[in-house]
Amino acid sequence: MEAILLVGGQGTRLRPLTISTPKPLLPTAGVPFLAHQLARAKAAGVKRIVFATSYRAGMFEAAFGDRAYGVDLVYACEDEPLGTGGAIRNAARALTCGSHEPVLVLNGDILSGHDVVSQVALHEKAGAAATLHLTPVEDPSRFGCVPTDGRGRVTAFLEKTPDPVTDQINAGCYVFRRDAIDAIPPGRVVSVERETFPEMIASGAVVMGYVESEYWLDVGTPQAFVQGSRDLVLGRLESSAMPGPPGELLVLEGADVREGAAVGGGTTVGRGAVVEPGATVTGSVLLDGAFVAEGATVRDSVLGHDARVGPGAVLDGVVLGDGAVVGPGNELRGGLRVWPEVELPATAVRFSADA
Ligand code: GTP
Repeated sequence: MEAILLVGGQGTRLRPLTISTPKPLLPTAGVPFLAHQLARAKAAGVKRIVFATSYRAGMFEAAFGDRAYGVDLVYACEDEPLGTGGAIRNAARALTCGSHEPVLVLNGDILSGHDVVSQVALHEKAGAAATLHLTPVEDPSRFGCVPTDGRGRVTAFLEKTPDPVTDQINAGCYVFRRDAIDAIPPGRVVSVERETFPEMIASGAVVMGYVESEYWLDVGTPQAFVQGSRDLVLGRLESSAMPGPPGELLVLEGADVREGAAVGGGTTVGRGAVVEPGATVTGSVLLDGAFVAEGATVRDSVLGHDARVGPGAVLDGVVLGDGAVVGPGNELRGGLRVWPEVELPATAVRFSADA
């Protein structure tokens, strides 16, 4: 089977991390995020993947070349971003399969433990034009929701509402019959969620919902990104792309966690990163070259490449851009983001995005 991976978005919600690196390439539990998806796609029988690229397109080929994790890779770049549907249509030029064969389409920012093989089997059995993975969530009012009828057919794509009719949401993994992709208008911006699927349903095409509630996470926000990395390190979601066994922490080659430092809760310590004695780091991502000084506390946070946290500083739920510096004694909390190379001097001031 062939697949299309949507990786061209700008990842605005994950700025400033996505200024230098597109979201799908952000190091996640020691490897680029996409590595986990490639390994899963391979396990589901995918042999060839077309990357639908746009933002910082060249970085994908540089990272993965023409084969990785046992899958052949090709690249279809959009001159201008074409949206999710336009990107799928554009990438279809590079597919080699026949018009009735299934094509797997994945958003490039989803961590999912669902059974792709069963999703494809449902698609084939139903003779569907498209089959969507739907996942139940606790608070569906934060998402658009996707109701299905008694036969499992999708009946509508509903916008966000305080009073949703179902807890099922679009989980960002689709199986399309190839000719349904070819029917998307070429060369213009198309949203698969707002245009393609609603039009398919309106025209009477068979669009199936494959409902499964295995582990699922959209890593599009800083909090979710940290959670995804943590869950992989702790083994809450298995991934054969992990560079080591699951555990309390993942320490990459060349990292230096000094004696007397307390590091755990699913933290990743990147290459060349240093955690000094007396520092506490919990459930966080330290990218390559990051530095946490003695007595500092870092919780549920991401430290960009070469970012530095001074002695005694406290970070809780914070993103530090590449090369940012937090001076001694500062306290940063609640979703705060520090832009690359910004220096917060030793003022011992409290900053909070909630304040
Ligand atoms: P935000 O800006 O934070 O919303 O993130 P995003 O740009 O990734 O957008 P979103 O999460 O809605 O995108 C879902 C998936 O589609 C992601 O994997 C994106 O990389 C991808 N994507 C979104 N827009 C485009 C596009 O215009 N072209 C391509 N090739 N992929 C896209």
